[in-house]
Amino acid sequence: MRVLFATSEAYPLIKTGGLADVSGALPKAISQLSTFNGDIKLVMPGYSAVLAKLKNIETIANINVLGETCSILIGKMPDTNLDVIAIKNAALYERAGGPYSDENGKDWLDNALRFGVLSRVASLLCSTNSPLTDWQPDLIQCNDWQTGLTPAYMKLIDNSTTKSIFSIHNLAFQGNFHANWLTRLELPAAHFQINGFEYYEQISFLKAGLFYADQLSTVSPTYAEEIQSESFGFGFQGLLQTRSDDLTGILNGIDIQEWNPETDVHLTKNYSNQRITGKSTVKKMLQQQLGLQIDANAPLLGIVSRLTHQKGLDLLPSIMPQLVNQGCQFVILGSGDKVLEASFTDLAERFPNQVSMNIGYHEHLSHNIMAGSDVFIMPSRFEPCGLNQLYGLAYGTPPIVTPTGGLADSVTDTNSMTFKDNSATGFVLKTVSSASLLVTIQRALETWKSKTDWRRIQKNGMNREVSWAFSAQLYLDLYEKTLLTE
Ligand code: ADP
Ligand code: GLC
Repeated sequence: MRVLFATSEAYPLIKTGGLADVSGALPKAISQLSTFNGDIKLVMPGYSAVLAKLKNIETIANINVLGETCSILIGKMPDTNLDVIAIKNAALYERAGGPYSDENGKDWLDNALRFGVLSRVASLLCSTNSPLTDWQPDLIQCNDWQTGLTPAYMKLIDNSTTKSIFSIHNLAFQGNFHANWLTRLELPAAHFQINGFEYYEQISFLKAGLFYADQLSTVSPTYAEEIQSESFGFGFQGLLQTRSDDLTGILNGIDIQEWNPETDVHLTKNYSNQRITGKSTVKKMLQQQLGLQIDANAPLLGIVSRLTHQKGLDLLPSIMPQLVNQGCQFVILGSGDKVLEASFTDLAERFPNQVSMNIGYHEHLSHNIMAGSDVFIMPSRFEPCGLNQLYGLAYGTPPIVTPTGGLADSVTDTNSMTFKDNSATGFVLKTVSSASLLVTIQRALETWKSKTDWRRIQKNGMNREVSWAFSAQLYLDLYEKTLLTE
């Protein structure tokens, strides 16, 4: 089976969030399955970081794509030797700033073209005009809106025989652009309509993926249900309901080569479920590094997140002073919403020994927060899957989460019953509110006071299978099902 995995980011080449974690880990996990007899390649934009990190780069072809001259390169992932096809066009992709936005966080004005080119190249790789002459994929897995036009090009222009899956990692990002882009994107105007890629008079990359792909998937079973409702469907619930039979929810896993407290190269001290003492060393070092009071008895609450409405962290500042007065410490790493950044910064200035606010993106610190914190806070309003709560489970840092999406599918609330049967792994809010967050944190702190009870919850989480092995097989099953579609 030949599989092409189209994505706009993949760890360790480039990462802004969980999509990169999945794109870095899932193809690798599938290729390692003993049940998989085939070959997986990635296709993605050749951002500067990607070109710098890929190994053994060769040029396959120079082609014109949507009026842009692109070099199609092939190289190897640094750690796994997986093939990555990178699209090189310096003007489109080699810029200072992020993959989607400039240094001030403003979306690039030509994102329609940048990801139109990505979508078009991915579709060409599945066509008889492929720049890769000896390798036509049987199946393509497209990820999020940035690759949404691919299934449309495949069906409407190329008449491709390759089957397609469109995977939803986040419905909130839709890639909707002005109809003026139609010609530039070489999209057939006849399909700019409700039964096509039109969405409220705009071209929607996301809708194209949802409408034209042979099968759809998303990153947790609960999110697969939720997005068929008005509250979570972001306007696409109707379309998703009609495609309900083609929609599969598969919970993400974690890359245990990167996220394993026993071997994690970022940690000041490694530890395991059997020998957990190293975890308190990481906590101590973290407190020291961040200028917090060094105190093993002060509960340390960790947060690593994009600071957006989705993540619900605006529920936290108002209840922090009370928790700080009770002796809690907070370490926050993230960036995004400027108002929220400022609230956390104010609190860090008010309580320098107990609150540490770190604005920015830091891989190394994120691992140490995950390991050094006692609990991890993730009160998302919606969460397609979420990876941080899975890292929390694996690192003996029980997560405090809302009952939504992948959080609901991966964290089991602690109560007398789940404590007794050893299924308790964290603490789940009843509603998405500051009051409920406060009550739930207090509940966690009560349990934390008993070291033996806490150890039991940590153990349950650390014993949970969160690696990709299981979910990778579910994707392979989905691939096989997709190959059988008409
Ligand atoms: P999302 O993709 O919605 O942001 P996930 O929980 O799926 O949420 O994945 C987020 C990923 O990005 C995790 O690997 C997390 O550790 C990482 N991350 C988020 N913010 C930061 C940051 N400021 N610094 C380092 N890593 C971060
Ligand atoms: C998105 C979602 C997150 C998910 C990630 C990877 O960014 O917000 O919940 O874990 O994609 O699938």
